[in-house]
Amino acid sequence: MQILEIEDLNSGYGKVDVLLDITFSMKAGQCFGIVGPNGVGKSTLLQTIAGAIKPKSGSIKLLGNEISGRNPEDIVRSGLALVPEGRQIFGGLTVMENLQLGLTGRADKKTSHQAIEHVAELFPVITTHSKQQAGLLSGGQQQQLAIARALITDPKVLLLDEPSLGLAPNIINNLFSNLKRILEAGTTLLIVEQRANLVTKFADEILILREGLIQDRLNKIDAQDENKLKKAYFGLGANE
Ligand SMILES: Nc1ncnc2c1ncn2[C@@H]1O[C@H](COP(=O)(O)OP(=O)(O)O)[C@@H](O)[C@H]1O
Ligand SMILES: [Mg+2]
Repeated sequence: MQILEIEDLNSGYGKVDVLLDITFSMKAGQCFGIVGPNGVGKSTLLQTIAGAIKPKSGSIKLLGNEISGRNPEDIVRSGLALVPEGRQIFGGLTVMENLQLGLTGRADKKTSHQAIEHVAELFPVITTHSKQQAGLLSGGQQQQLAIARALITDPKVLLLDEPSLGLAPNIINNLFSNLKRILEAGTTLLIVEQRANLVTKFADEILILREGLIQDRLNKIDAQDENKLKKAYFGLGANE
């Protein structure tokens, strides 16, 4: 079953077109990585899917239902959440207050207590630092909180925009083992990463974005071949 279907999606800012005719679809439980140079529109793509930017044209379907043009809160309730670039947590609020903001996006009747317990199992910082001001957490802890806040809405599809940005290597390893657990629990993941090698290990497919288009798609095996990945990323021909 296709859980997310993007067809001929065009998006941008005012008169500026950033994404041109983006088309791809994902099956439930898959993980796709999106890589590409700075400024190609990776964040614009995730923001458009999550409803923060209205697409200029095209279709975005979640579980067969059209969600393009709907507001972000509606989209969260339909089962799609975004962990934005730079985390965007509220530094002046406590860890628990930040989480509670996520809880308002839940669609089902599961009690908030159960939902918090569920994410705290994956991210202990939720319990150990629950009353701490979020702005005082380390970068890795803030990222855990940002993911927990999205997860608590119980998404079927989770979008992550450069989750590793600014984190130390050992923290990044921990982050990706958590993402692997989230994937294994059945959540569909779409991860934007500048450092492609972080996602190639468990992504089913890597989409390479350049000049507003998906320039190349690599399956799991090809994506782990560094030469193939580099060639696709830089747009080099086979003999270059
Ligand atoms: N709020 C905005 N208003 C106008 N242009 C923007 C805005 N945000 C991003 N852009 C432009 O859109 C393009 C794509 O940006 P972005 O999606 O952030 O790229 P990436 O995430 O791949 O680095 C860039 O040229 C950027 O300057
Ligand atoms: Mg970006």
